[in-house]
Amino acid sequence: MGREPDESTHITMRIGILTSGGDCPGLNAVIRGAVLNGIKSHHHEFVGFLDGWRGVVEGDVVDLPRERVRGISKQGGTILGTSRTNPFDGENGGPERIQQTLDRLGIDAVIAIGGEGTLAGAKRLTDAGLNIVGVPKTIDNDLDATDYTFGFDTAVAIATEAIDRLRTTGESHHRCMVAEVMGRHVGWIALHCGMAAGAHAILIPEQHTTMEQINAWVLEARDRGRAPLVVVAEGFVPEGSEEAYSDRGHDSVGRPRLGGIGDQLAYRIEADTGIETRATVLGHIQRGGVPSAFDRVLATRLGMASVDAVEEKAWGNMVALRGTNIHRVPFQAALNNLKRVPQQRYDEASLLFG
Ligand code: F6P
Repeated sequence: MGREPDESTHITMRIGILTSGGDCPGLNAVIRGAVLNGIKSHHHEFVGFLDGWRGVVEGDVVDLPRERVRGISKQGGTILGTSRTNPFDGENGGPERIQQTLDRLGIDAVIAIGGEGTLAGAKRLTDAGLNIVGVPKTIDNDLDATDYTFGFDTAVAIATEAIDRLRTTGESHHRCMVAEVMGRHVGWIALHCGMAAGAHAILIPEQHTTMEQINAWVLEARDRGRAPLVVVAEGFVPEGSEEAYSDRGHDSVGRPRLGGIGDQLAYRIEADTGIETRATVLGHIQRGGVPSAFDRVLATRLGMASVDAVEEKAWGNMVALRGTNIHRVPFQAALNNLKRVPQQRYDEASLLFG
């Protein structure tokens, strides 16, 4: 329920933007796209909530005038900060208290930029009557209802470049190289950077590949005179295990902190095949730094479209990429299923293994 246009300032709505969950290259481009479209097309005014839902719950905001978003689409991270705060936790959380905070700050609508957890929180708040639209975000590309998420293309490019480098040192030393990339539940990053770099094996959470098969691919590559290259997603579940490898405890929201499967595999490959093997964990390098041109364009378009959704009071919807067009889909559509790597895509890639 936006205010009536004010004759002196022409401001029609005051919109709050938040970035929540793991950061992702392109977040700043979304913010810029939203602010510029909102100001130029609709005379809206913007504020940013600091550190995701924490800023909403605590009413911690900064003004986002046009000057504040100047030149930021090429900037990594998020100028607003992020956190994994749950908007339902604490005495100031929950729909009623949050609505009171928004009213106090004169905020008419919220644009929530985030992944599955963020959108699930946004859905619950919208169901309780709050004015929220969403923008999907995850480098893992695991959100259903959108063809691609911004940040994914950048992560794949960074991982591909790093793996190309691992390959030359591997070839020089006649070693097997294992590259561990991100991908908690799905293997999109591993599949794409592995294909791009010509990996001899790609191991993803969706496929329970046996050690026997991995060793066979490694030996086949070695026997052709190549230095075997294995790309593994951090969420790969090794043979004989029920869940992804984790020896680093849990994160702030109780999820196992993944990472380390690459080392485990390197040890097994070396022991089983006799080929000297090294592992590299790419980790957060994949999430940092400047977004690719593709991600800047996608993120900018999503940001602009999110403001149009606010303008049309399409609460409870997120903007999404379908083909080359931006559409709107209900939050629920993004929450129904994870977007997993289909069997056919893995079979296609695995034709080239070994
Ligand atoms: O969800 C994106 C992601 O990068 C996952 O691939 C990874 O498991 C997780 O975030 C890491 O989270 P954190 O930055 O909290 O360690």
